[in-house]
Amino acid sequence: MKAVVLVGGQGSRLRPITYDVPKAMVPLRNQPFIGYMIDFLRDAELDGAVLSLGYLPDPIQRYFAGRDLNGFSIDYAVEDNPLGTAGGIKNSEEYLDGDSFVVVNGDVLSGMDLRVAIARHKESDALATIVLTSVEDPTAYGLVEVDHDMLVHRFIEKPAADEVTTSLVNAGIYVLEPAVLDMIPTGQEVSIEREIFPYLQAEGRLRAYVSSSYWRDIGTPRSYLAASHDILSGAVGTRNGFDYLHVEPSVVKGKGVKVLPPVSVAAGCILESGATIGGRSSLGRRCKIGEAALVEGSILFDGVEIESGAMVRGSIIGLGARIGQEAIVRGLSVLGGGCVIGEGNVLDQGIRINPRVVLSPQSISYS
Ligand code: GTP
Repeated sequence: MKAVVLVGGQGSRLRPITYDVPKAMVPLRNQPFIGYMIDFLRDAELDGAVLSLGYLPDPIQRYFAGRDLNGFSIDYAVEDNPLGTAGGIKNSEEYLDGDSFVVVNGDVLSGMDLRVAIARHKESDALATIVLTSVEDPTAYGLVEVDHDMLVHRFIEKPAADEVTTSLVNAGIYVLEPAVLDMIPTGQEVSIEREIFPYLQAEGRLRAYVSSSYWRDIGTPRSYLAASHDILSGAVGTRNGFDYLHVEPSVVKGKGVKVLPPVSVAAGCILESGATIGGRSSLGRRCKIGEAALVEGSILFDGVEIESGAMVRGSIIGLGARIGQEAIVRGLSVLGGGCVIGEGNVLDQGIRINPRVVLSPQSISYS
């Protein structure tokens, strides 16, 4: 059995990071997200994945080129124009072998045992089974109401607070029968959630499987940071070993440097004297943290430079960005790749700076 992994979306909620890096390639504890997804599918003993690509396909294909996955196959179905979630599945059909198959949104991190959902699906006469998960605030998601026998009864898209009748939402993980492919027109933009599932529901052929395991999507800066924190603290994704204090041997540390777990510091980083890398941070390769600078609860992509006395807290800093002396970046700020934030700026309140923007010293201050 194979899986179709939907990774063709633009990831607009994660901009400006996704202007340069597809959502599937954003790092979590220094491994691209797609690596966790493939581990998840291999743990379920699937035979391979078809990556349904559209937006920025090259970095994803490069990541898998020459990578040995122990017989787990990777195929690519690349769209010239966005085909939506169902259209992306239809476009992958030639790589599926006529068997039931799994579909996953390429931005969900799950600790569930997919094998159980597959087994339940096969015991039923459903054409599709949707995995559901319970979330604290379902208003940002699509609610799914189920009957006592787990048949899907109703969908409620992004409900207002007084319309919330259940905490169960679509987890973006499905098991489908090949007959579903025949319901999707070729080469057209079609949504599985809005067009195919309601039809299957009306026919009584759509079931649900509720998972109580870890689940999170990485679609927004807040959820991406939270997922990174969860991985750093071992809540999920520990297949390749786990270490609260993961500092590569090549990291150079000056005098009085503090590195507080859980943390991950990749190869080639330089931590100058008096720097503090606070818990729940992930530093990509070759980052440089200047004297007495502080990084806490943040994700730094490769090659980021934080100059002396600067502070980065609860934020996401794109590839090769530079934060000047004494600057402060906090409060879920997101900086695109190659930004230069001049000395003494204060960025806060979820500010987003586009890639390669240069801010002159002390030009922005939130107080
Ligand atoms: P936002 O723009 O922030 O909503 O993110 P997104 O583009 O990822 O959209 P969304 O989260 O709704 O998509 C769910 C999953 O479907 C993601 O893994 C997307 O990569 C994928 N996806 C969305 N649109 C398409 C598409 O047109 N083609 C393919 N192949 N995948 C898609």
